[in-house]
Amino acid sequence: MSSHILLDLKNVSKVFGSNHVLKQIDLQIERGKFITFLGPSGCGKTTLLRSIAGFYTIDEGEIKIDGQLVNDLPPYKRGTPMVFQEYALFPHMTVFDNVAYGLDIQKRPEAEIQDRVKSAMAKVKLTGLEERYPHEMSGGQQQRVAMARALVMNSPIILLDEPLSNLDAKLREEVRVELRSIQQELGLTVIYVTHDQLEALSMSDHIVVFNKGAIDQYGTPHDIYYKPRTPYVADFIGTTNFVDAVVRDFANGKATVEYGTSKRTASVTIDEAVTSGEKVLLSIRPESMRINATNAGEFIVSGFVKSSMFLGEKERYFILDDDMKEWIVDAYDIGLTRYQGNVTISAADDKIHLIKIS
Ligand SMILES: Nc1ncnc2c1ncn2[C@@H]1O[C@H](COP(=O)(O)OP(=O)(O)OP(=O)(O)O)[C@@H](O)[C@H]1O
Ligand SMILES: [Mg+2]
Repeated sequence: MSSHILLDLKNVSKVFGSNHVLKQIDLQIERGKFITFLGPSGCGKTTLLRSIAGFYTIDEGEIKIDGQLVNDLPPYKRGTPMVFQEYALFPHMTVFDNVAYGLDIQKRPEAEIQDRVKSAMAKVKLTGLEERYPHEMSGGQQQRVAMARALVMNSPIILLDEPLSNLDAKLREEVRVELRSIQQELGLTVIYVTHDQLEALSMSDHIVVFNKGAIDQYGTPHDIYYKPRTPYVADFIGTTNFVDAVVRDFANGKATVEYGTSKRTASVTIDEAVTSGEKVLLSIRPESMRINATNAGEFIVSGFVKSSMFLGEKERYFILDDDMKEWIVDAYDIGLTRYQGNVTISAADDKIHLIKIS
């Protein structure tokens, strides 16, 4: 079997008592991709990962790995090693023995164990540190030992549950880059769990956004950011401005929408079809709006600057419009210019994202 789909989840549900934690999850994951499960605390990320690894039995649905139904297989027969948040290295064992652990359990011949551990250590660039103990290594190195331990099993898929959460910010970024390059170099299939949106955007081929045990969106980081399918996704990833609108006209991939109490209209470029009279939500990112630089026919709002915040590369403005709705607008590279008092803010039609709500 070498279909490009490595992991196939159909209708997967998991219940703890009366808590429906996973709700009919359908998901197909391609070989060789870095996939991130993203969502707030308690949305079911770990539960799904543990269900894939075989630590939980699901209540409904199918889990297939490489075409094989694994619902009834124990964890060690699934080939899905999991690296936990706390790495779970054995403190009393050397790095070599930690990495060799899974092979020891399988009672592989000594020479094979030597070879495979050596090669796994080389892959994570830790050659020469085999005789150290975990406490003699940095957090990032320990993280790589945990990866080597998964790699040594030659598994088709590696599951990582918030593996960087106990590293400090700078090291976290370094290990993030390293992890991604190991994955790409070796063509590994990795599922990575995080609730950190920047981590998800920067590392992933695809992101799965979870909302209370269900998948709201599955897509590339760019799609998730620029084309969120639900208000929840738009709000969870990055910062955005929402505005209610009604469709007045739709033709050739452009909609005319009406918004605000003064019933202004603007043109919006969209992918999906909408119908006249349909209520929709517009999402406009702070960096997609301009201040005092409007073009005719554009989305325009007038208001006044309530406050602003200097963030180095940009100035973030909080602007109250005539309906007393607050807008967040980022202005980049403006030097010493500061906007004050009455302003107009605007966005080009391809910077406005329309979300269907019905
Ligand atoms: N073994 C368990 N028994 C009962 N309830 C559980 C169990 N494990 C998780 N839950 C519940 O299932 C829900 C999802 O938990 P899960 O650990 O999957 O969330 P998560 O998305 O990983 O959150 P976090 O980001 O905080 O790690 C929560 O409401 C949690 O309380
Ligand atoms: Mg978790």
